[in-house]
Amino acid sequence: MGAKGYGRVRVHLGRVITPLASGEWQEFSPGFLAVGEDGMVVSCGEWDGSAKGRFSQAEVVDHLPCVISPGFVDAHIHLPQLDARGMAGYRLLEWLERYIYPAEMAFEDTKLARCTARRFLRELVANGVTTAAIYSSVHFEATQVVFEEAAAFGYRAVIGKVLMDRNAPASLLQDPEKAIEESIALCERWHGYQNRLFYAFTPRFAPSCSDRLLRLAGEAAASLGAYVQTHLSENLEEVELVKGLFPHSSSYTEVYLEAGLLGERTVVGHAIHLEPRELEILSSTATKVAHCPSSNLFLHSGRMNLPLIEKEKIPVALGSDVGAGPSLSPFEVMRDAYYLNITRPSKLFFYATRGGAEVLGMEDRVGSFEEGKEADFVVIDPRPVKGAGSPLEELFSRLIFWGQKNLVVATYVRERRLFP
Ligand code: GUN
Ligand code: ZN
Repeated sequence: MGAKGYGRVRVHLGRVITPLASGEWQEFSPGFLAVGEDGMVVSCGEWDGSAKGRFSQAEVVDHLPCVISPGFVDAHIHLPQLDARGMAGYRLLEWLERYIYPAEMAFEDTKLARCTARRFLRELVANGVTTAAIYSSVHFEATQVVFEEAAAFGYRAVIGKVLMDRNAPASLLQDPEKAIEESIALCERWHGYQNRLFYAFTPRFAPSCSDRLLRLAGEAAASLGAYVQTHLSENLEEVELVKGLFPHSSSYTEVYLEAGLLGERTVVGHAIHLEPRELEILSSTATKVAHCPSSNLFLHSGRMNLPLIEKEKIPVALGSDVGAGPSLSPFEVMRDAYYLNITRPSKLFFYATRGGAEVLGMEDRVGSFEEGKEADFVVIDPRPVKGAGSPLEELFSRLIFWGQKNLVVATYVRERRLFP
């Protein structure tokens, strides 16, 4: 028994931190996070006499002196590229041809897809990532298997089968009608599954899609209320290629706009080399951006101008973009974001948590510890970075620059412990 009306309540003790919509952080130390048996937050606050009285019957899980933070959100990651990380020496287009298309072709083998999906999901939670927007491969079966594994594991994700019908090896190309038909079948099966799994129509990027394929994806996503995820303006050669392939569009962003792909449920990765008009389009369509700093450094793609994106009020989250990003650790992604744009550490933590939830339209559900939200959280041990007692802004800074997955002690989705 716990607090009245909630049935069994479990209380997690720690240095509890939670972001507000304003970007500021609230901190309770020692604090508690009380969760009902449905995995929803009952309340959080100071672990004082009154809280102790209120939850005197509850089961207590003592994580002190560890930090309890909302789980991290990775807003852009490629599952089939898990083992293709770290292949240096080339920029985007050549890297795709040499390493990535072959790695994705291997997902023809559904057994390999299942095995990789299991390792991938375990690696995400070992890094404190409780929600991810995932690109699968072009394969229907492999994508089905990724959903099955995420469902069985209890993970929260947006997942999509990659769409391509040109400018890639033949075995990765599909007839547009067939590709969309398969995507619709996956969407109908999985979009909204237990309010944890969602479908994203996933045209890889304009260079590998015909105008017809883009339009069909835009129509299907709109009619099914699904997400859209794609890449936009990552690399200058890519931007030139798009100009040649879509001579009737005035910009890369307008290719997607004209295909009906932009909107509040769309997340575009990168968004680096944009004209003012393109920023305006992203802003006015409420399109979201996944900033992938580690990937941008690895592929020498360029520097996203974060202040400009913020000035245009375009919601932004962080993505590892594995396998161009070498690490699934949000600490490392935040560090690289700082190297590209000087940013307050608390803001980087915001982007990695509540900001990510906002970009995925899940801010009513996760990203902070308000009553009625789902208890997705990560327990972080600050002792190795010597920050256990320091002010929050300093602790964030130490975690970002010293931190790695060894600091992640436990990861919960809907209060189900998925790690360790
Ligand atoms: N653009 C199109 N496909 C990809 C991909 O797999 N990774 C990255 N970083 N950019 C892309
Ligand atoms: Zn990507």
